Amino acid sequence: DRPVIPGVRTLGFKSIATGRDDAVMVPEGYTATAFLPWGTPILGAFPDYRDDGLNTGDEQAEQMGSNHDGIIFFPIDGKSDHGLLVMNHEYVDQKVLHAHGADQSGAPRPADDVKKEMNAHGISVVEIQKSANGGWELVAGGYNRRVTAITEMKISGPMRGTDAMKTAFDPSGQRTRGTLNNCGSGYTPWGTYLISEENWAGYFHADKALLDKKTPGYNRYNITGWQNYHWYAADQQDDLYQRFAPDESGASASEDFRNEPHCFGWLVEVDPFDPNYVPRKRTAMGRFSHEGVIPAPVKVGKPMAFYSGDDSTNEYIYKFVTKAVWAENMEGGDVLDEGTLYVARFNDDGSGDWLPLDFDHPLFKAAMDNEAERPPTSDRPRLVFTSQADVLLNTRGAADILGATPMDRPEWGAVNPNSGEVYFTLTNNSPRTVSNAANPRVLNRTGHIIRWNEEAGEPAATKFYWNIFVFAGHTEGHLAGFLPRSGKRLTDENVFASPDGLLYDDNGILWIQTDMSGDQQAGKGPDGDFGNNQMLAAVPETGEIKRFMVGPVDCEVTGVCMTPDHKTMFINIQHPGDRSQPGQFTSHWPTGGNARPRSATVVITKDDGGVIGL
Ligand code: FEO
Ligand code: CA
Ligand code: CA
Ligand code: CA
Repeated sequence: DRPVIPGVRTLGFKSIATGRDDAVMVPEGYTATAFLPWGTPILGAFPDYRDDGLNTGDEQAEQMGSNHDGIIFFPIDGKSDHGLLVMNHEYVDQKVLHAHGADQSGAPRPADDVKKEMNAHGISVVEIQKSANGGWELVAGGYNRRVTAITEMKISGPMRGTDAMKTAFDPSGQRTRGTLNNCGSGYTPWGTYLISEENWAGYFHADKALLDKKTPGYNRYNITGWQNYHWYAADQQDDLYQRFAPDESGASASEDFRNEPHCFGWLVEVDPFDPNYVPRKRTAMGRFSHEGVIPAPVKVGKPMAFYSGDDSTNEYIYKFVTKAVWAENMEGGDVLDEGTLYVARFNDDGSGDWLPLDFDHPLFKAAMDNEAERPPTSDRPRLVFTSQADVLLNTRGAADILGATPMDRPEWGAVNPNSGEVYFTLTNNSPRTVSNAANPRVLNRTGHIIRWNEEAGEPAATKFYWNIFVFAGHTEGHLAGFLPRSGKRLTDENVFASPDGLLYDDNGILWIQTDMSGDQQAGKGPDGDFGNNQMLAAVPETGEIKRFMVGPVDCEVTGVCMTPDHKTMFINIQHPGDRSQPGQFTSHWPTGGNARPRSATVVITKDDGGVIGL
């Protein structure tokens, strides 16, 4: 049975309508203010943002990155009016980033354009405080930092120093440069920030002969340059750029770039309070398209658990359980380097199993024995694992042989801080033709949200019990939205599709953000008319769901966090004007006029100074 939380809430605002305005809409009694848009100077020489697109690559390294995504507020001394705001910058839109728009032909590219694109990725760490007039402002202090696709990082955990990580940059396999496609983010109980690396595989234009070999580090990861950035084509012979065209032309991995993609697909830890911290790729937590990561609430004397989804069609949900146990005020150090990675199997009867991606575990050994018997096919070469490093390098393949459940694109997770119940968005899976109990809709264009409780409430449990919280979708039809527990249908005041970002706040409100396709927003064909992407508030105990926010044109709403007093909410608006053509922008948010659209944070407060949502 699901735990009942004392003091179940009622949402204290009036649901707002869907809409197509080029603005952020919030309920009556609330104010939304754009903050820290792409290009805002935050450190160094504080180079002014130029709306003509002519900021340089070096200037971009001292400004906010682009395509804001996961966001976490780290209070200073527990305060709700002063802290570090840390956020991910997922990718770049060349037609917005540059004066001259996009170049996806593979022709030689100006190196500074590529440098600017690399420096627009990664994270921003920004000290912020509440000003006398109640607004938030940037503090030009020593915490402010950019981590980008160029920043040097340590390889940490079981992959460190292994043959698979040896590169021309570091033949000892202990260091690499940069982080890519930083989507949802997370944090640790000891107060550090976790960057996820999601669609990194699309940045590497691997040589066909290398792809055809279907090596363990490549076979399940689609390393085909599909992001079309062509960074290798920067017109200079610099391995900072050349590494994005891996092949096996050298005598060994130290002379070519075959292993560069192995350095990506990880979770990366950063201490936002230490500007000199060298980011660590925490390889024990697995290699896949990490959407984000969410910790379970900690218990003294118990291991710590972290959930992370692999956002691709029919991929899996994972849990990492630390070897170390939690103690009040513990230092994290390298705690994330030791533990057990599990992948989820959702059984038809509502139970679930966490299957160990552990080379030494009897269940994994049995899976390897089965694999050894399986006739290989051209799609699925027989997988052989000889060490835990092999398992982690090819986390997806290892999960395949264990029999994990293929999901409808796992995006964000959130954990009820009171009960430990875990929620995960399954954003959509239009191509699905074979359903399973946890992903029961074929052609699932609108997505759903699944939830589970760990056995006996233990984050380290290997069994769990799941059900579906809500099917997103229309008010009627094959993809009607409803809450299976009560049978209640979604209505005009809460229809949504493609759930993505999630936050479970301390007051029991589950915040749900959407990343609907352009057709879903515009009402084309069967995809519906959901309007611009939005954020809803839900009280799972009662099934109440209301629309709280609607974003500007052609954006995605992603990333949400709150100050400890829950009186300020920060959310991110990503890629407004997504369907623009060079020089013809479909959104001019947040500046207005004819300005370029800019991803930005939005500060949401209640006009009476109260708690958000109640
Ligand atoms: Fe970057 Fe799965 O969203
Ligand atoms: Ca997402
Ligand atoms: Ca998404
Ligand atoms: Ca996105």
